[in-house]
Amino acid sequence: MTQIVKIQLHSFRNITQANCQLASGLNLFIGDNAAGKTSLIESLWLLATGRSFRSSKIKDLIQIDQSQTTVFLEIQNSKHQHRLAVQKSADSTTLRLDGANLKSQAQLATYLPVQLLTPESHKLLEEGPKARRSFMDWGCFHQNPAFIDNWRIFQRSLKQRNSALKKRMPAKMVQIWDTQFIESALKIDQMRQDYLQKLAPHLQNFCQNLMPELEADVGCHYRAGWPQATENLEQLMHENLLKDQQLGHTQYGAHRADIRFKFAGREALQMLSRGQQKLFVCALLLAQAKLHEEICGEAVIMLIDDLPAELDEFHRRKLLELLQSLGIQHFITSTAENLIPILSPKTSQIWRIEHGNFSPIVLGSTSIDY
Ligand SMILES: Nc1ncnc2c1ncn2[C@@H]1O[C@H](COP(=O)(O)OP(=O)(O)OP(=O)(O)O)[C@@H](O)[C@H]1O
Ligand SMILES: [Mg+2]
Repeated sequence: MTQIVKIQLHSFRNITQANCQLASGLNLFIGDNAAGKTSLIESLWLLATGRSFRSSKIKDLIQIDQSQTTVFLEIQNSKHQHRLAVQKSADSTTLRLDGANLKSQAQLATYLPVQLLTPESHKLLEEGPKARRSFMDWGCFHQNPAFIDNWRIFQRSLKQRNSALKKRMPAKMVQIWDTQFIESALKIDQMRQDYLQKLAPHLQNFCQNLMPELEADVGCHYRAGWPQATENLEQLMHENLLKDQQLGHTQYGAHRADIRFKFAGREALQMLSRGQQKLFVCALLLAQAKLHEEICGEAVIMLIDDLPAELDEFHRRKLLELLQSLGIQHFITSTAENLIPILSPKTSQIWRIEHGNFSPIVLGSTSIDY
């Protein structure tokens, strides 16, 4: 299993300095509003993905009056222990693995399979297809080494094709990109389909587990980024060239794929309550986690910011039981300790955060100095 053994933060938002040895199961971070809970989760997400989930500007993450921030982790997977680090300043990023510089975030990401649930995660159902594509692509990326190269080729050819369309270049300057575009789109399409096919039974299982009150089965319907009846993508691209030229961008391709989730034939968003939407996204993440472990032999790490939001006691416990039984290391934040049952004290650690300062709480007693 992959687990984070230690985290060190420097100048990350309101956290001047943090140094925590972590538990293999539940790591619970308790604090009042503005204590720094989401910041901690965000720092882990930054190392795993290179991005923040709440700001597009790196500058926002660096503590006010400081010029750079550092996130350092020690992780243990089934084979080795590794040291991962990211250092960000306004205009530069340094990535390190075991003391050596790395060129790409993707290299670091393979060491840290992390999933995130925040109070905004229901947007996966509510908003456009981008988040659902990212969800599928996360799975494809971690499970199929060929995915990233195809994805890069696809993104490059899409960008070049769109640039040629926008500049109203002659048709042959647009079509010069089509071979790469079509080949990579078809490969990505196949990988996404394979992935969802393997994911669907796990999703059904976790939906039943987390929401026993739901009677209908979940339907997981993949949509390629082109009309369903398409038999030949090359022909479709050819037939739509004029339309693409009029629009100034590429209408069809892997950049338009989506997944629709349905219960009893109706859109999940219409059928599920707000709490159930959050649980459904949990079921999606757990299904991904389960599949990841089956294929890669490594458990993922789950980050859950503000777990109690929208969830009642029954469903909170159900989720925690599942995380524990799957052997997933989880990082959970909450404003109140009594909302999170400690199911396995031996593999759990609670932390109190106050004004960006962390102190461990000995289970069943009061806070001690760290
Ligand atoms: N770059 C920064 N430098 C210093 N402080 C910052 C920076 N960015 C944000 N903060 C402050 O960090 C504090 C912690 O924010 P955070 O969102 O982590 O709190 P939280 O514990 O998740 O609170 P809540 O329970 O309300 O969600 C806030 O007071 C915020 O104003
Ligand atoms: Mg928060």
